[in-house]
Amino acid sequence: QSNNTVYSLIGEDKLDILVDRFYELVSEHPDLIEVFPDDLTETARKQKQFLTQFFGGPALYTEEHGHPMLRARHMPFKITPERSEAWLSCMAQALVEVNIEEPLRTAVFERLSYTARHMINSETTHS
Ligand code: HEM
Repeated sequence: QSNNTVYSLIGEDKLDILVDRFYELVSEHPDLIEVFPDDLTETARKQKQFLTQFFGGPALYTEEHGHPMLRARHMPFKITPERSEAWLSCMAQALVEVNIEEPLRTAVFERLSYTARHMINSETTHS
């Protein structure tokens, strides 16, 4: 693996702490509570695998689950613009709280912003 990936700059330990803190915030967010399962253990485990490979580390997610097809995997859930922003606000807060420093923090956030917007599949939570 390359030593100048975002993954290697964050490090495995900090990525784990980031994801755990992120899902704590998700579980408390009024716009997100209803879409996520009550127990986020498995969700967090998959997200650690996914972000590891997304940021240039080993392809842990694909090894276990196959091609990510993230947008397709999110289709069962109504991802509105509001929920996408809520997801990103939890991530922004987690990035600060776990002390991922600039310029890395903004680089990470911008890549995730792009993906979170791509995930939008519904304009409203109704119908
Ligand atoms: C799974 C919501 C954005 C990566 C999920 C699940 C929900 C969800 C409800 C299923 C949880 C479960 O059953 O365990 C959302 C919402 C988003 C969002 C509301 C707002 C835009 C993202 C983004 C990424 C991402 C930006 C990646 C950067 C994943 C992964 C999984 C997942 C890897 C696990 C897929 C699997 O089951 O293998 N998401 N998500 N999500 N999400 Fe998101």
